[in-house]
Amino acid sequence: MKIAGKFPDIRLRRIRKKGWIRRLVSENSLSINDLVLPIFVRDGKNKVEPIKSMPGVNRYSLDKLDSIMRKVQKYSIPMIALFPYISKNKKNKLGTEALNKNNLICKSIKLIKKKYPKIGIMCDVALDPYTSHGHDGIIFNNKIDNDKTNKILVKQALIQAEMGCDVISPSDMMDGRIGEIRKALDRKNFHDVCILSYAVKYASSFYGPFRDAVGSKINLKSDKKTYQMDYRNSNESLREVALDVKEGADIVMVKPGLPYLDIIKNIKDNFKIPIFAYQVSGEYSLIKYGIRHKLIKEEAILESLMAFKRAGASAVVTYFALEIAKKIS
Ligand code: PBG
Repeated sequence: MKIAGKFPDIRLRRIRKKGWIRRLVSENSLSINDLVLPIFVRDGKNKVEPIKSMPGVNRYSLDKLDSIMRKVQKYSIPMIALFPYISKNKKNKLGTEALNKNNLICKSIKLIKKKYPKIGIMCDVALDPYTSHGHDGIIFNNKIDNDKTNKILVKQALIQAEMGCDVISPSDMMDGRIGEIRKALDRKNFHDVCILSYAVKYASSFYGPFRDAVGSKINLKSDKKTYQMDYRNSNESLREVALDVKEGADIVMVKPGLPYLDIIKNIKDNFKIPIFAYQVSGEYSLIKYGIRHKLIKEEAILESLMAFKRAGASAVVTYFALEIAKKIS
């Protein structure tokens, strides 16, 4: 790009001198339409349980979901993402609780769809909240078995669709699962159910607080590097997206968020498909810590979210969704 003119004829500070002109020339904006709020659900009654590793975020028992859903409705947040905290005795090697039509997630979807039909629901397709080893897939011959896992993920996706989930979100990073899930959904007449593929998900240290939130941290003895992406790689993310687009993904996710803005931009330049960014738990907790300890200003939240818009994301999954919705509404 050629930039015309030079100082002193050109003074870029002229377009920064007052708030009104900064507003007029601003290139990006963040609205409530850009936000997805993750919600953690748990068993039991009358529970709003703070998550220590994520200050300000709670786990809700079903009878308490209204306390947060009412706010989601009040601020018109378009979609929530549901994650279950499963008690230890329901976890096993195969994650069979994921296929129980009466499990926590199924009950949550039904309840929320009934009371809040206008709010979109997305659900993770992955086995990690349900497995005793904390992996997203099942282990066979000491490896996470791709094809055996896919068979279970397809069933998990179908059950979620049957319960009323609007957006099926495979976050497991198995190869070929998008195509298999799309085919299975169509075969059962769920043509209208979206697939938001966590197409580009890196093996990241920033997921720490989330794994604590869903109770998989203590079980997970190794890392997820044999299925989640290597953070040294960029081209590989284009291959991941290309495959998922071909297999039928409607939207692709890049995750984590801020350390991967280059990846979002690169996908934006190469594909014409909506991109969602996930500002993950570790990013949330770091920013929250900084604000609580007065190291950084609260405006850091907006600054971090605007970065996703600049990079080209259509929406951001963020634990700050309610907080920032209050600010910008
Ligand atoms: C599970 C899943 C993870 C997250 C969303 N879905 C964690 C993981 O892959 O270990 C992370 C979200 C966050 O850190 O906020 N497949």
